This record gives sequence, C-alpha cells and structure tokens, in this order.
Amino acid sequence: AMARKNFVVGNWKMYTTAAAARDLAAAVARGVTDDRITVAVAPPFPWLQLVAETVKGSPVRVCAQDVYPEPEGAFTGEVSTSMLLDAGCRAVIVGHSERRHVIGETDMLINEKARAALKAGLVVVLCVGEKLEERDANKTEAVLDNQLTWGTRDIPANQVSQLAIGYEPVWAIGTGRTATPEQAEQAHVFIRWRLSQIFGEEAVGSLPILYGGSVKPDNVHALMAKPDVDGAMVGGAS
Ligand code: PGA
Repeated sequence: AMARKNFVVGNWKMYTTAAAARDLAAAVARGVTDDRITVAVAPPFPWLQLVAETVKGSPVRVCAQDVYPEPEGAFTGEVSTSMLLDAGCRAVIVGHSERRHVIGETDMLINEKARAALKAGLVVVLCVGEKLEERDANKTEAVLDNQLTWGTRDIPANQVSQLAIGYEPVWAIGTGRTATPEQAEQAHVFIRWRLSQIFGEEAVGSLPILYGGSVKPDNVHALMAKPDVDGAMVGGAS
C-alpha cells in the first residue's frame, strides 16, 4: 500500500517436484510485468538453485523457507545463510507459523535465524501471528508484541531496510478462513507501531508488512487496498 513498495511471496511449503518447481517458476517469471511489486517465490530447499536459474534475468526473487543461524558445522539437515546465497537466494522466511507450531521453534531460535540472515545480507520475512484461542481471548496484540519483541531482539537499526514482517494469523493459514481486510489492517497498524517503538518511526516507515492466510485471487485486492497491508504471503494459491 501507498508509500511502500508492495511485496508478494509465494510460499510453496513442502510441495512440488523438480519439474513442477521449474514450470511454476518459469510461469511466475513470465507473469511478473509490474515492477511496482516485488515478487518472490519460496520453493523447498532442493529446488532453490533450479528455481534461481529458471527466474534468472526476470525481476522474480528467490526466497528460502527457513535457515539455520550457524555459519557451518555438525548440524545435520540444516542449511546456512551462505548456502542460500550460493544457491541464488536473496531472501528467507523466518518463524513461519508451521515452523513455530508444527516443528516447535522458539522465539529465541527465530531471533538467531533472523539476525544471522540479516547479517549475511539476506532479506528476512519475519512471520508472526496469533492462534484462534489467543484471538478469542483478546490476546492478539500481546502475542504479536511478544513475537516482535523477541524476534527482533538485537537486530541493528541499520538492517531494518532488509526486514519485512509477515502477519499470518494461525487460524487463517490453509483454512480458507481469511482475515477480513479490517482485521489485517488493525494487526498491521499495531505491528508497525510496536516496531516503531523498537527501531524508530523513520526506519519502520518503509518496512513492508505482508498479510498471509488463505490469500486468493478474489480477496487479495481488498486486503492490499488497506494502507498498512503492503503485500501478501500466499501458500495454497501460489
Ligand atoms: P495459505 O498459506 O495461503 O495456504 O493459507 C499462507 C502461508 O502459510 O504463508
């Protein structure tokens, strides 16, 4: 919305074969003609390099779905920031709700991931969002406050230009139950206010806040029309 450049991330989660990833990446690259919007695709790790080669020369960016904070070492199954950069990746999602609630990642680990990725020069999409029972108990802002406070701890203000926030209410992810544009806007205003306390108003003025959770072609326009909704994270529909 408005002064901020729109940013859309397609999160492919644990879907696609190599062939499907290549075809989808090529189709996205052909489809992206509007340079007012930054478009990134987030394929599974094994397809990062293939997808990076496929979208080369197009404005489409390649984003990883996760990263490990250590530079290298005996961390079986994990992937470092320099590996992502070598694979042609320029952005990474950190703290996705499925990482928090299915895999069990803590705010502390998520913060280490965000700091390592920012330090390596990657764009970081830090995800936050409340569960349904938290919303119903009027705890949405408290949950977001906590996730933002811990998630951004010790991030230097001069790296905020590489940071984006994904607001993804857990009850809206993969459920078909999208937040209303008003619910999204209200959360985004809170997120921007809280981040401006942490980093200062100026640093946060141009920070993109993306909405995610059952975004579809028929609801994306109303969501993006809100002044503080600067983009979308799209799972199923991507
Ligand atoms: P969804 O996923 O669009 O399938 O709800 C969104 C996300 O997890 O980023």
